[in-house]
Amino acid sequence: MTPDFFNTTPELVVTADGSHSLRFPAVGEGYHSVHGAMSEAVHVYIAPCFEPQAKANPSVEVLEVGFGTGLNAFLTLCKSMEYGVAVNYTSVEAYPLEENIWSRLNYPEIYKKLYGNDLGLDLEALFHSLHTAEWGREVEITQGFRITKIRGMVQEVTLPTNAFHCVYYDAFAPQYQPELWTAEVFARIAAAMRKGAILTTYCCKGDVKRAVKANGLEITKLQGFANKREMLKAVKS
Ligand SMILES: C[S@@+](CC[C@H](N)C(=O)[O-])C[C@H]1O[C@@H](n2cnc3c(N)ncnc32)[C@H](O)[C@@H]1O
Repeated sequence: MTPDFFNTTPELVVTADGSHSLRFPAVGEGYHSVHGAMSEAVHVYIAPCFEPQAKANPSVEVLEVGFGTGLNAFLTLCKSMEYGVAVNYTSVEAYPLEENIWSRLNYPEIYKKLYGNDLGLDLEALFHSLHTAEWGREVEITQGFRITKIRGMVQEVTLPTNAFHCVYYDAFAPQYQPELWTAEVFARIAAAMRKGAILTTYCCKGDVKRAVKANGLEITKLQGFANKREMLKAVKS
């Protein structure tokens, strides 16, 4: 089922930390927290999911559900260069954004403001390369960072088994896309995770926790971002 709002154009908004996000005004649903899109992405995906794996492994396999604005991919790319770790990044996206939307996003500029740019990277060029990378094949963005963008539904695409160290589960909320938060979908994701892999998501609803747990993942509730009390971390043990 495709929610009606996917047929409308999302509007660009500035969130509390200065970073852009996209919102569908008709439903009030958006791609990120209005309390800070970039800060939320760091809080939910980079700090509890990517960083521990980047510290423990010379090369990290990341799976993202929902490429969207490319914010998580961009942050992972910047952090991977900071840590000197190689990354193979796979992102599944059913409804890619048009260039006239993603090209207006201010993530390179806000990244510099919030986190600096000690390595002197051309952040604008890196962000552009992530978006223009061809769909359906592995593309080298830098010497250590490769991305494979898969255009399709996460419920249907074929994923490799026991492959990923990290899963960023960044779908729209269950009230809008309940079909993406089921035990069946998490079974596919769990099978794609290797032993010790970490999945994080901003959503910590009871049904979601049960759907994740049903697949043998060990769950922990973490402090949520901004006004959210909790978020979810799940580990394949
Ligand atoms: C909350 S947004 C987050 C996107 C991205 N991580 C970001 O930071 O911009 C959810 C994303 O999931 C995508 N999506 C919706 N249904 C999907 C599906 N069935 N399979 C894969 N992606 C889907 C949407 O198009 C959207 O880009």
